[in-house]
Amino acid sequence: MGKYNQQNAILPIIQYTNSEIRTWREVYLSYQKIIENHACDQVKEAFYLINKQIKFNSKNIPQLFEVSDKIHQLNSWRIRPVPGLISDKDYLEGLANKVYCSTQIIRREQDLTFSPYPDYIHDLLGHIIPIANNEISQKLNLLGRLSISATPEQVEQIAFIYWKVFEMGFIKTQSNQYKALGGAVLSSQQELMNVSNKNVKISHIREFKIIKKYVEDEDLQNEYYYIDTLDDIDEIVENLKQKWHQNKTAYNPQSPIRNPRIQAFEEDK
Ligand SMILES: [Fe+2]
Repeated sequence: MGKYNQQNAILPIIQYTNSEIRTWREVYLSYQKIIENHACDQVKEAFYLINKQIKFNSKNIPQLFEVSDKIHQLNSWRIRPVPGLISDKDYLEGLANKVYCSTQIIRREQDLTFSPYPDYIHDLLGHIIPIANNEISQKLNLLGRLSISATPEQVEQIAFIYWKVFEMGFIKTQSNQYKALGGAVLSSQQELMNVSNKNVKISHIREFKIIKKYVEDEDLQNEYYYIDTLDDIDEIVENLKQKWHQNKTAYNPQSPIRNPRIQAFEEDK
């Protein structure tokens, strides 16, 4: 169990504008339908758990401090506000320390269905709510812990896996349906619908070869990945470790450390 180091941490309360609230309303109403019809069971469960306490509604944008408190009560994670994009290293180190780094900026009104930039609606609906599910939060923590002591190249590989699973990924059900797991497909109707496009390919994450230098995150994807169960992440992590070991690249697993850039948690001794 982690120990919170920022006893007096204050998460800024934001006065959202009418235009931002309108944007929230549209995206949230669509998200409710996504949760009902397209989300994987773990995300559904997370939403119902946290919604019991916060009572999300289309009229108010939930404040980050309130969401962070509820998540902390549920499974000891905390949310840390960040101004925008942060490095993969800092992001993953946050996960290793049960800290999710979220922006508080709301997407532009013209980006209603798909925001190419970091925004709070995406972070909240696509990433923070799923953390309320213990299975999801454990796997995020696992990927984060793998990044501790990883080389920059290894961090990049973990970030690719994170992206394909927890940003764009699906869980394939026993009845062969693809249910949304990733933050982008949960918070963007456009991204979600894109997966049923005939020209789009969907494969098991095992098939994913890390060959691309950069992730295309500013446009819709033309390939997606799924897992059968969240335990597939364990296999992916083990495979990565083995590959690094065989390549004799430096990798020293160790406990999460306190990173002042994310003002993370310190593990209890
Ligand atoms: Fe995201």
